[in-house]
Amino acid sequence: MTRTRICCIGAGYVGGPTMAMIADKCHDVDVTVVDINEEKIAAWQTEELPVFEPGLLEVVKARRGINLHFSTDIDGAIRNSEMIFVSVNTPTKTYGVGAGRAADLKYVEACARRIAAVAEGDKIVIEKSTLPVRTAGTIKRILEATDRGNRFQVVSNPEFLAEGTAMRDLESPDRVLIGGERTPEGDSAVDRVVDIYARWVPKDRILTTNLWSSELSKLTANAFLAQRISSINAISALCEATGADVDEVAHAIGTDSRIGPKFLKASVGFGGSCFQKDILNLVYLCEHFGLPEVASYWAQVVEMNDYQKRRFARRIVRSAFNTVSGKRIALLGYAFKKDTNDTRETAARYVAGDLLEEQANIAIYDPRVEPSKIMHELGVSQDSTQVSICADAYEACRDAHVVAVITEWDEFRDLDYRRIYEKMYKPAFLFDGRNILDLDAIRAIGFEAHGIGKPAPSVVSL
Ligand code: NAD
Ligand code: UDX
Repeated sequence: MTRTRICCIGAGYVGGPTMAMIADKCHDVDVTVVDINEEKIAAWQTEELPVFEPGLLEVVKARRGINLHFSTDIDGAIRNSEMIFVSVNTPTKTYGVGAGRAADLKYVEACARRIAAVAEGDKIVIEKSTLPVRTAGTIKRILEATDRGNRFQVVSNPEFLAEGTAMRDLESPDRVLIGGERTPEGDSAVDRVVDIYARWVPKDRILTTNLWSSELSKLTANAFLAQRISSINAISALCEATGADVDEVAHAIGTDSRIGPKFLKASVGFGGSCFQKDILNLVYLCEHFGLPEVASYWAQVVEMNDYQKRRFARRIVRSAFNTVSGKRIALLGYAFKKDTNDTRETAARYVAGDLLEEQANIAIYDPRVEPSKIMHELGVSQDSTQVSICADAYEACRDAHVVAVITEWDEFRDLDYRRIYEKMYKPAFLFDGRNILDLDAIRAIGFEAHGIGKPAPSVVSL
């Protein structure tokens, strides 16, 4: 049986886990993951992978050197592969036209140009990155502009994994989406991609569409998910003002089968590399296509999220007698969610930034995030006296006036909060930005405890 050779350009949070799963499920497929970042490629060959994901290391170790390879030889991988996944970053543009909203497609374009320049023979180019609708058209034009006699098919195959549960999501996805050109060549390219996923994903979960539907579905899915969080976070502010409990409200509405229970967890605000970027991109596209009302509808989801992050920091300052200047505030967690070392757009950065502006001293503990990364993101030097990174939660909380849970790491549920309380200044304030703690038990210790959308005890009584 002939072996299929595929490669993936981009060895990040999506490229790495996705390709590891394909290698694990398809032993007759040779998978090469390439990247311009030498350090990252080197790390993929060690026990300290550049991406922390539960279950990822085991799969990588099982297939590495057999049918899963990591390399910086991008040209070689392009030449050797029939199918080329493009999984490079598509961040929000920070310059020029569309700055702050449009997706920066320079990395995707660089890949298309590289493929066009070095390909020897026909290729299927698969968009794994999240891209604005109609990008496949641009990629195809670039690929075909060199006139070197190669034929290309561009297929859209957006990724829906969430960080922290990537391996589970890849193993058992709700659906796999594959969009292609509605021509015989396009259909056959789509079939080739379907064949890969069909090894482990039930056929009825593999959806095929036209190119534009596939591209737009990815942005839309993220916009809908983020919208639910902003909606429940908006209600959390009203809960705090009225005595309702946001978790009770979420449960009550989530039992309506039309609404459903998932993604209704009020929080300090959503983070991550995708939601904000993709909504801003959607907003930009709507404006571009002359739909300002649609654009401002979606923009509000991001505005509400900004409000939620700011509101959290303000509540801390207000509770601490309107000044946190010179006071130690412990932040438990820095990653944008549990079970990942990713900090992109984490609410922690905004909350810490607001508190630093108020001249607080910040002590941070996160079980997975590199201390140097936190210091860099907060724009402080390693010997800063205003920010310290601690080896555990107890050290962070010692001599603190306020403790704030920012990331819902499981270990924060099980801390000895009495021990923490004893070593804090009094009154000791606790803010649970994830609603993972039993506030009654925390209050019984002596804390003045606040949750998100959780009323202060005085507000609840009639
Ligand atoms: P990432 O930053 O972790 O990885 C991207 C990698 O691409 C980097 O290692 C970078 O060095 C590499 N790269 C950039 N330009 C290159 C080039 N010209 N040649 C070779 N390598 C190059 O990003 P990510 O989180 O993996 O996201 C990738 C894409 O997938 C984005 O479009 C993102 O929106 C989308 N996505 C991300 C997630 C997620 O949870 N992170 C989920 C679904 C979709
Ligand atoms: C998201 C999408 O879920 C995924 O399908 C897509 O492929 C990439 O973007 P990710 O950002 O990795 O995944 O994590 P997700 O679980 O969606 O969480 C995003 C943010 O929302 C996190 O900060 C999380 O803490 C927050 N969140 C999530 C809430 O505040 N409340 C919720 O109910 C769910």
